[in-house]
Amino acid sequence: MTENKRVTFGSKLGVLMATVGSAVGLGNIWRFPYMLGENGGAAFLLIYLICILILGLPVMITEFFIGRHTHKNAAGAFKAMAPGTRWSLIGYNGVLAAFLILGFYSVIAGWTLEYILQSVTSPMANKSVEVFASEFSAFSSGLIRPIAWTIAFITITHIIIVSGVKNGIERASKIMMPILFLILFILCIRSVTLPNADKGLAFLFQPDFSKITSSVTLSAMGQAFFSLSIGMGCLITYSSYFNKKTNLQTTALQVTLLDTLVALLAGIMIFPAVFSFGIAPTAGPELVFITLPNVFAQLPMANVWSFIFFILLGLAALTSTISLHEVATAYVHEEFQFSRAKAALLVSTGVLILGVISSLSFGIFKGYTLFGLTFFDLLDYVTAKIMLPLGGMMICIFVGMRVDKKILKAELTNEGTVPFYFFNTYSFFMKYIAPVLIGIVFLNELGVIKGIQRFF
Ligand code: PFF
Repeated sequence: MTENKRVTFGSKLGVLMATVGSAVGLGNIWRFPYMLGENGGAAFLLIYLICILILGLPVMITEFFIGRHTHKNAAGAFKAMAPGTRWSLIGYNGVLAAFLILGFYSVIAGWTLEYILQSVTSPMANKSVEVFASEFSAFSSGLIRPIAWTIAFITITHIIIVSGVKNGIERASKIMMPILFLILFILCIRSVTLPNADKGLAFLFQPDFSKITSSVTLSAMGQAFFSLSIGMGCLITYSSYFNKKTNLQTTALQVTLLDTLVALLAGIMIFPAVFSFGIAPTAGPELVFITLPNVFAQLPMANVWSFIFFILLGLAALTSTISLHEVATAYVHEEFQFSRAKAALLVSTGVLILGVISSLSFGIFKGYTLFGLTFFDLLDYVTAKIMLPLGGMMICIFVGMRVDKKILKAELTNEGTVPFYFFNTYSFFMKYIAPVLIGIVFLNELGVIKGIQRFF
């Protein structure tokens, strides 16, 4: 009864675009470069790519399996497949993760709106790096403006979720994605032709293996899950709207490739410029917001570039916030029998509260920390580095333990109509390699492995 009110995808391209829309977002263009900058550059990239291939892809295919097999929301899917068991906790973990991610993601999404406005109102050419940096920190640590933009972004997401996603987002994604690629590509060329660009490229592509630590590995794994939107049932929710003809394997492969390509392009766009302008690669969440205006300022019609870019970034963020909101709203709507509008309002109100506190943690709440992390950083850490990988691990264990291989294969091959050449490899990775590897990374980060080594 509720199904037809949720997102339905009109076409093959629509399926791909909506899923890519969820995956491609601030995670690729804002979070990936700053994580890479903080975690030693190319060594991080290497681990990230390995995680995408051997963890990300199998987990994504497995989420697609669960979603399309059950046609249910993230929590409902586990209830349907394993009624009366605790497996549904995986779904709850996902719903909570979606809610918490929205709480900090919408702050950064709000920043894109400020930058769209500034592109129109404040001339960029001839401004120095220092001016861009100090303007940014004055803005982000402020009280009213960043909060107002956060609220604005949550409101836009809310309106789209309530009024239906199909036409607007599907259509917008189809037009927007190719333009985003094009503009990223142009900015990459501008960045690599700046003086000292080679230092940035070396930072990005020449790994220093001594930089690989347990925390770098956990960060790279978390980034892979975050960027692909996996581990929290977002893709279970989306694939519950796929039809029987959707090729789950190729969709997973295409989404993974496009998402990784955008992250790589973002890296190539940011790091040569970072080194050329003398910005610290470890600057953290502000890295992209300080670096990019400097790149635009180097181009003729700086403000026009900036305007187009931040509109695209804002839209890329919007297709991701919609998918996050949808996970929580679909759950509240279906499991508590709230109307969809009421469910969405409840989610938005909660997110608003988290968003305001997250925004303030760049300003007046900066000094309030837990485990050395501000509220914003805490939400980011708990979701990306704990909840998503844990969710992914449990999803794999669940399907590995509870699902008959024949059913799995039938769903993934559309009842035998499309081949799955590497089914055995996939199933082996999903069942054994992914959960064990994720477990090892966790234990390593917790220091358990070092403890054991010392013991022997
Ligand atoms: N993948 C999105 C990004 O890279 O920006 C963020 C995200 C969306 C994470 C949806 C998780 C999710 F379920």
